[in-house]
Amino acid sequence: MAAPEARNGSPAPAREDVEPLETELLLEAINRRYGYDFREYAAASLKRRLWRRIHAEGLESVSGLQEKVLHDPACMERLLRDLSINVTSMFRDPSFYLAFREEVVPLLHTYPFTRIWNAGCSTGEEVYSIAILLQEEGLYERTRIYATDINEAVLETARAGVFPLDKMQDYTQNYIRAGGKRAFSEYYVAAYDGARFQRSLTDNVVFAQHNLVSDRSFNEFNVIICRNVMIYFDRSLQDRVHRLFYESLAMFGILALGHKEAINFTPHASAYEAIDPHEKLYRKVA
Ligand SMILES: C[S@@+](CC[C@H](N)C(=O)[O-])C[C@H]1O[C@@H](n2cnc3c(N)ncnc32)[C@H](O)[C@@H]1O
Repeated sequence: MAAPEARNGSPAPAREDVEPLETELLLEAINRRYGYDFREYAAASLKRRLWRRIHAEGLESVSGLQEKVLHDPACMERLLRDLSINVTSMFRDPSFYLAFREEVVPLLHTYPFTRIWNAGCSTGEEVYSIAILLQEEGLYERTRIYATDINEAVLETARAGVFPLDKMQDYTQNYIRAGGKRAFSEYYVAAYDGARFQRSLTDNVVFAQHNLVSDRSFNEFNVIICRNVMIYFDRSLQDRVHRLFYESLAMFGILALGHKEAINFTPHASAYEAIDPHEKLYRKVA
């Protein structure tokens, strides 16, 4: 059978030629219907994840996904889970926590009170790790941690503070390599549903939904930890989020990024000095 023709007589474009347009329309639809703006997320990773959801839903095209998402909020929830990529772990990159202990903690001891923003905290493993570290360093009582994420479902898990028991062996290794000072098992009890972490670790934590793309700053912070979130954003969105962080950090405040992220080449690079360039720890100096 001959390929269908467009109205001007030329052959209809191949599927891959219209896919960028379909993707643009899908992301526009999601933004207008649900208020989640993924339009400036890095294209390659976005495409992979959209197709994973298209196949999982038994669909055949990006437009098919658009139709389903618009009419079925449960499908949007599933897509949100795919797009927000919640991979995390306790004391992830232990060398980062070791550097934080050695290079940031002494600075925090000079403050009467510290406000920390953990942006993109996912299911909370990062927040509990920070809380444990601060408790061991005698800082937790005078700290408030604001733990935020775009995805309300992961925040629910974070609030509950119950993590898979089979992960505890790896997390114990991470904790030791991160300079942990006690037995890691002191922080949780084994329950039927998993390893239940001490409630006191979240006494000074506020969990809240916050979208780095569209929401504003909500306080002034001494430390902002945003690790492994901006790798999923395109360049212009990264620049915007860096502006949000710059405006939200107090003078001499600390910015902590993930191992694959950096402040260099962003519009605010010159406003920071590197405390530890390998561990992506920076201090606002201008
Ligand atoms: C890969 S996880 C990183 C979790 C943790 N920071 C870590 O390093 O282990 C990325 C997190 O960023 C969140 N995220 C993605 N886009 C976001 C946005 N626009 N605003 C806030 N959080 C976002 C995702 O929901 C996800 O939980």
